[in-house]
Amino acid sequence: MLKDRIAFVTGGTGAVGAAIVRCLAGHGARVAFSYHSQPEKAQELERELTAAGRSVRAFSLNVVDAAQVALVAATVEREFGAVDILVNNAGATQVMPFALLEEEDWDRVMAVNVKGPFLVTKAFVRPMIRRQRGAIVNLGSLAGMRVLEVPVHYATAKSAMVGFTLSLARELARYRIRVNAVVPGLLTDGVSAHVPEKQRLDYEGHCTLGRAGRPEEVAEVVAFLASERSSYMNAQAVHIDGGI
Ligand SMILES: NC(=O)c1ccc[n+]([C@@H]2O[C@H](COP(=O)([O-])OP(=O)(O)OC[C@H]3O[C@@H](n4cnc5c(N)ncnc54)[C@H](OP(=O)(O)O)[C@@H]3O)[C@@H](O)[C@H]2O)c1
Repeated sequence: MLKDRIAFVTGGTGAVGAAIVRCLAGHGARVAFSYHSQPEKAQELERELTAAGRSVRAFSLNVVDAAQVALVAATVEREFGAVDILVNNAGATQVMPFALLEEEDWDRVMAVNVKGPFLVTKAFVRPMIRRQRGAIVNLGSLAGMRVLEVPVHYATAKSAMVGFTLSLARELARYRIRVNAVVPGLLTDGVSAHVPEKQRLDYEGHCTLGRAGRPEEVAEVVAFLASERSSYMNAQAVHIDGGI
């Protein structure tokens, strides 16, 4: 499905990011991915997939550092090739009641989840515009779309990814670049690892499929949106939440 495509995935060391890297590579793409604080995990993933005959490379990157983003984008293009697929996956949250949030908590969560995708997309979109092709997939969250007991700064940042997706899709369509988002519900792992048991049970009770989702189930939809099989899909926010 993605043979000879070149992809860049941010946050490949996370639960969802690693699943996306594995899935894109499994569908035949050559995948560059970024890590931030976990170089060992990145190397492990690189080794695992290389041993399986896939073409995968890890790059160190803080998505809120514009100079680093520009450098990594240039290095990926030089050493790996022009990127056809960008997945803005890196994200961060913090479990904290609104009244206790400090300004720096707000700034950090907004920076990683919103400024990061802005900087990364800006750096990777120019070659896509030049080549008049590309697919961008952003990670939203049900936290930003429903009335849920979730951290307010995280919900705010994640709903911003939908606006980002819609307006970017409109603007980039003229260059034949499609932009979509996935909106996962509660997953078994990753940023939801610290969700209190009571809330997890509540989610599972309201979800038609009666369980949390798996990162691999999100990754399959990302791969589909990144591929030509979804050629008539643009500006969509696809919910992957088990029906809730
Ligand atoms: N898990 C869920 O239930 C769920 C539900 C809805 C949406 N999502 C979305 O899915 C995406 C991935 O989340 P996850 O659950 O896989 O979380 P995770 O396991 O905590 O992974 C987060 C990833 O983001 C990277 N990262 C964090 N801060 C960064 C920074 N400043 N610069 C660059 N990379 C940074 C981390 O890198 P290091 O590990 O190397 O530091 C890691 O690879 C997020 O956008 C999240 O909002 C998750």
